[in-house]
Amino acid sequence: MLSTIGVSLLLSAGLLSSIRTENMSDKNKIEKIFEYTGTHVKGLNGNVKKCQFIRKAKMENGTEYVYRLPLGLPYKQLQHLNKNIGVFKDGLHKNVEVEFDGGMLHLYVYETDLPKKWEYKEVVPLLKNKWNIPIGKTHKGLVWHDFDQIPHMVVGGTTRYGKTVNLKGLMTSLILSNPHDVEFYIIDLKEKLEFGKYEKLKQVTQVAGNPKEAADMLEDLRKRIVKMMQAFGACGYTNITETNDNKRIFVIVDEANRLVPQNRHDKDKMFCQEMLELIACIAGGLGVRLIFCTQYPVSKTMPRDVKQNSDAKMCFRIQNKYASAVVLGEENGHAAELPDIRGRCMLVQGPNLLEMQVPYISDKTMNDLLVDYMKGARKDVTPDEAETGENTIEFIPIGDA
Ligand SMILES: Nc1ncnc2c1ncn2[C@@H]1O[C@H](COP(=O)(O)OP(=O)(O)OP(=O)(O)O)[C@@H](O)[C@H]1O
Ligand SMILES: [Mg+2]
Repeated sequence: MLSTIGVSLLLSAGLLSSIRTENMSDKNKIEKIFEYTGTHVKGLNGNVKKCQFIRKAKMENGTEYVYRLPLGLPYKQLQHLNKNIGVFKDGLHKNVEVEFDGGMLHLYVYETDLPKKWEYKEVVPLLKNKWNIPIGKTHKGLVWHDFDQIPHMVVGGTTRYGKTVNLKGLMTSLILSNPHDVEFYIIDLKEKLEFGKYEKLKQVTQVAGNPKEAADMLEDLRKRIVKMMQAFGACGYTNITETNDNKRIFVIVDEANRLVPQNRHDKDKMFCQEMLELIACIAGGLGVRLIFCTQYPVSKTMPRDVKQNSDAKMCFRIQNKYASAVVLGEENGHAAELPDIRGRCMLVQGPNLLEMQVPYISDKTMNDLLVDYMKGARKDVTPDEAETGENTIEFIPIGDA
């Protein structure tokens, strides 16, 4: 069967405002939008299969509408629906989230706004010895990201909208959840301005502040990766998650745009780019994760292999739809339409697209939470004792998550 879905942004502003002003229920508005946007499957015989209303349910801060998607709707075409979530937001004049679950489409229509700011300390409780950490808040509550399920992440956004603060929050959660198993290689191309002070953490192997240092550091890591591959090959493992080894290495790159080679003599930058692509392509199975963060997302600053192997994509407010689409995926311009709020971003996580507010963490909070892991600090405290100290965060026992 031939299927077509045309959810087009060409829907005229006039049509949307007529939906908005008309005195109809949100359910009717949703169905009008399906109709206007041609959200259906058309068979060769001309039969049109529409989204079928299943149920609606009241939530604390809005209403959930569930529709069965017509059979034969290809996965790629579902993404069109996600891309055009703005049509629903404009039409209903409310916050809307879309989620796909099997053959079902869930539309969450909210009466409230997301918080403009929330503090990192609210991420509690964290999961001990897990790679699943809270990364932001949507209308439905905390959003979690499991780095064992989706190993690599790209992050983009205009200057001053919260990329580095977000990296610090991720790093803090990973350390607090896995203090004995996590290890960081950090490339901070602002001459270590942001992360140099965290080189003292026992979980941080090195912070490189410029392309030369980054290339040397990545060469050391390359040698380790080769050894890891040999060890995996000898034991017949293909993925670290099949083993009982809970060690994971995170490579964090902040300001990756500064790693773009200017010409072919820019050997350090070229090597760094190659290494980051290698990590994204082959090192995930070995337990190496990449978090790649850039200010100016254009195809030059976001290597194709890095982007294609990173199934988690975060984009803070950004200059234009093109830059947004470079981070979030084809035609996905939503990060250009985000409100002017620091810490607000769009997240692509597998098939889902969410607007979320990431937690705010100051350097002081990060320091306070991690002080017991600073090399040379509090020698009287063992890491296990440190976990019960006053600066530590509450944990859920494994199994209750
Ligand atoms: N999650 C957040 N919630 C509220 N405010 C935030 C959040 N993240 C960042 N901010 C504010 O925005 C400022 C800039 O954040 P940050 O340094 O992370 O931006 P950036 O995107 O890394 O900028 P640049 O590209 O210039 O490095 C912070 O100093 C803080 O005041
Ligand atoms: Mg920054």
